[in-house]
Amino acid sequence: MARARNDGKTIACIVGARPNFMKMAPLMRAFGAEPRLPAATLIHTGQHYDFAMSDALFRDLELPVPDLNLEVGSASHAVQTAEVMKRIEPVLDDLRPTCVVVVGDVNSTLAVALVAAKKGIPVVHVEAGLRSHDRTMPEEVNRVLTDQLSDLLYTTERGAADNLAREGVGGERVHFVGNVMIDSLLHHVSRAPSAADTLARAGALASVAQGPPGFGVVTLHRPSNVDNRAALAESLAILRDVSRRLPLVWPVHPRARAGIEGGGLGRLLEGAQITLLPPQGYLEMLGLLSAAKVVLTDSGGIQEETTALAVPCLTMRENTERPITIAEGTNLLVGRDRARIVAAVEDILASGGKRGRRPELWDGQAAPRIARHLASWLALRERQNAEAAA
Ligand code: UD1
Repeated sequence: MARARNDGKTIACIVGARPNFMKMAPLMRAFGAEPRLPAATLIHTGQHYDFAMSDALFRDLELPVPDLNLEVGSASHAVQTAEVMKRIEPVLDDLRPTCVVVVGDVNSTLAVALVAAKKGIPVVHVEAGLRSHDRTMPEEVNRVLTDQLSDLLYTTERGAADNLAREGVGGERVHFVGNVMIDSLLHHVSRAPSAADTLARAGALASVAQGPPGFGVVTLHRPSNVDNRAALAESLAILRDVSRRLPLVWPVHPRARAGIEGGGLGRLLEGAQITLLPPQGYLEMLGLLSAAKVVLTDSGGIQEETTALAVPCLTMRENTERPITIAEGTNLLVGRDRARIVAAVEDILASGGKRGRRPELWDGQAAPRIARHLASWLALRERQNAEAAA
């Protein structure tokens, strides 16, 4: 609990889970470089806490050590969300920040937005307006509610504003700025270790083909894919089939590992050309993704990263909240359609697969754009408040 400020002159920046860290890192840099903004206070809710899921990413992304860690840990959605709310409340009372900045769609994002909104602290949501239109996804609930609570909504693709307008969020609050996740990617990709180095360090180089046909990368962690035993078994069988054509490398998320071990499904992977790795660092992951022939995933962020890297992506979901990766990028929605997935992999191996382009404003400058806009917005707000008080 170091460096907490209580002079009412700070921006409270909130992170909780792995995909938040790559979004907040460029924001912290840009806020620090914008002289009109007050200093940032970085608060980690502790939703993710393992070294590989948290500290390793802080190191890779050059994120400062958090000023506070609320240490909420894992629990049911209700308990985790409630714990964040309980623990952030006294912190916000003490800090009295000029605004709270939340990113993405994890439980910590919604929990902090809800507490701040009820205290009258402006909520700034980065990566607003994405919609899968699937309310069975916990993240979709978090997105819809966080956006309703937010005073400033920064979007990554133009279509997000339409989603927000349909939900009654006024256009004056919405600003298209580009994608901070891609700021991180472009900032770090040249420092990524080669895939061969990462595989060698993991003792896996020998099991992944050197030279043609190369390898594919897998990531799966959505509850709909890994908490349900039948769905997970189906996915494993598909990956097994794919691995006959292309060896696969799979850094396994703790939730997926629990699904495989708890469901007794490890035997489905026996004999398959699938190399399981522990969760990887951010730079290692960039190196693996850059070198992959194809990526099979259910992650939101990886759909964007593969589009930015021009690597074919097969998204093993029925929907995506990031439609621009399909309209303009390298992404294809394939669900758990085995024939479709195998055919898509064949096509990629034969012809390189779908070509894409990098979407508008995914140029590495989204965070500086946000910092400039936020500084002007806070200055205007301060003037208006002063006039109202006079
Ligand atoms: C969370 C986010 C999801 C995001 C994902 C990225 C929500 C609703 N979900 O899902 O949007 O894509 O993070 O990883 O916020 N665990 C560990 N070590 C950790 C953290 C978790 O072993 O450091 C295990 C625990 O058994 C825990 C499980 O993973 O119960 C799930 O963690 P949790 O934070 O609840 O959700 P994720 O599936 O990681």
